[in-house]
Amino acid sequence: KNLAVFVSGGGSNFRSIHEAILRGSVHGEIAVLVTNKPGCGGAEYARDNNIPVILFPKMKEKPDSLSANDLVTALRRYKVDFILLAGYLKLVPIELVQAYPRSILNIHPSLLPAFGGKGFYGMKVHQTVIASGARYSGPTIHFIDEHYDTGRILAQRVVPVLANDTADELAARVLQKEHQLYVEVAAALCEERIVWREDGVPLIRNKE
Ligand code: GRF
Repeated sequence: KNLAVFVSGGGSNFRSIHEAILRGSVHGEIAVLVTNKPGCGGAEYARDNNIPVILFPKMKEKPDSLSANDLVTALRRYKVDFILLAGYLKLVPIELVQAYPRSILNIHPSLLPAFGGKGFYGMKVHQTVIASGARYSGPTIHFIDEHYDTGRILAQRVVPVLANDTADELAARVLQKEHQLYVEVAAALCEERIVWREDGVPLIRNKE
């Protein structure tokens, strides 16, 4: 399967998926990287690894960037089957959501539906989890819809919140689990092990 990964930041999830592909544990290929921040760590890593980079959305000062429909066309040209958002901080345009039904995933660093939605990203999530007194957090991978963090949940991992955790410590512990979880999910996607329950809930079938 051909994957497109979308990033805005350091891209550690992107890296861990790419490394899993290189060692043969994910049977797919990252056909293209999409970013709104051409100078971010993720984009740099893509260029170092000869993965094509697309700038999206359009930046006024960058005449070579694309519109939503151009982006769909470009992804089709790369024969993209699935899109993995990995720290992409822009809302994905409705044109793309409609062009790729049940094919776009996002990772969020809390146990959704708690601590999600617009404004909940980065350290803010972990600070709010700690302040709430919640004893557990952890990453959620979900299919996306046209809103922030509300699409169907596919996979989650539980990470304990320790009594004296700082947001940085909790973030690091959650991020470690994100890397494992996204690789497992990418492997399942590429092996066509995602099944949809009648009520619209996606499930991962175990390997036979
Ligand atoms: C992760 O915590 C992810 O859950 C969130 O943004 C962060 C991305 O980290 N959506 P990285 O760029 O993959 O290192």
